[in-house]
Amino acid sequence: MKRSEFTAVVPVAGMGTRLRPHTYTYPKVLLTVGDKPIIGHILDELQKAGIKKVCMVVGYLGEKIKEYVNKNYKGLEVFYVEQTEQKGLGHAIWLTRGCVKGPVMVMLGDTILDADLSKFMDPKEDCIAVKEVADPRRFGVVEVKNGYISAMVEKPEHPKTKLAIVGIYSFQDSAMLYGSLDRLVNSGRTTKGEVQFTDAMAQMVKDGHKIKPVAIEGWYDCGKPETLLETNRYILDNKKFSPRAKNSLIIPPVYISPTAKVQNSIVGPYAAIGDGARIDSSIVSDSIVNEHASITNMNLSGSLVGPSATVVGRKDQLNVGENSEIRFDKNACEL
Ligand code: UTP
Repeated sequence: MKRSEFTAVVPVAGMGTRLRPHTYTYPKVLLTVGDKPIIGHILDELQKAGIKKVCMVVGYLGEKIKEYVNKNYKGLEVFYVEQTEQKGLGHAIWLTRGCVKGPVMVMLGDTILDADLSKFMDPKEDCIAVKEVADPRRFGVVEVKNGYISAMVEKPEHPKTKLAIVGIYSFQDSAMLYGSLDRLVNSGRTTKGEVQFTDAMAQMVKDGHKIKPVAIEGWYDCGKPETLLETNRYILDNKKFSPRAKNSLIIPPVYISPTAKVQNSIVGPYAAIGDGARIDSSIVSDSIVNEHASITNMNLSGSLVGPSATVVGRKDQLNVGENSEIRFDKNACEL
């Protein structure tokens, strides 16, 4: 089986509530991390692995996602399926059944993986990526026997293992997967209010189907502000960029889009400055400044600045006499 025979299913219809306020107006997958939007990293990986056909499940703010993908990924054959109500990941994937034939690889739209995707395109085995995590309760969790998954539960209160399901799934026979999803959707069964993909796969396992767990180390979540910044640090550490700025000090690693304008500033470490953004007379580290945002007279760290946002600080002028003490730090009032 050739890799190009795989269809990648990428669900991106979620509302991204944990990344509000950014996601009130902008879909999560278009937020910048490192040198491009989250979805750009995912589609690049799929293309690198030889995949030619992608089926995206869009819903919330889907038009913006389509516009970005159609403009930047002309080399991929991309189909869109609409999920009008976010009924869960299982429901989102079930909606793609008319668009997929043969082998399928599902890749979540909010995780960036540093993994060899060819491991998931083994012609003989169905596989799921797993990773040992400290607290598996907010994930699907698997149990393993004789090298294959023996049970899987979505967000268990008392997980039996620490092996969490982390965003890549591949099935040689998509018809079998869609059959299981069909039965789940038609049964009306939900877990925690959603049609869970894990429940459909758990039933396949119960019916004796073999799914191999593939352990991956490099798994980077983009679902919350702190994990998005962590993923940003990882990308900046692992890619080479040549950032340019006028009258500025750059402390690597830093990404500055060639169309951004940075002047009279100190940028880095771990700053990502998106297309058309402007940074003037500011200090920016460990932050993501999205496209066309503008930062002036600010000292930012651990920050996310949304697309086209404007942040202006102040320039103080002081006439300070001998033995004075002037403090603007947050503990100043305790002195
Ligand atoms: P998440 O569970 O992270 O949901 O979905 P979300 O909406 O993106 O974010 P929060 O939890 O509200 O902050 C994992 C992936 O599955 C997609 C999401 O778009 C994301 O890529 N998804 C989830 C759908 O496409 N449809 C759904 O009904 C649920």
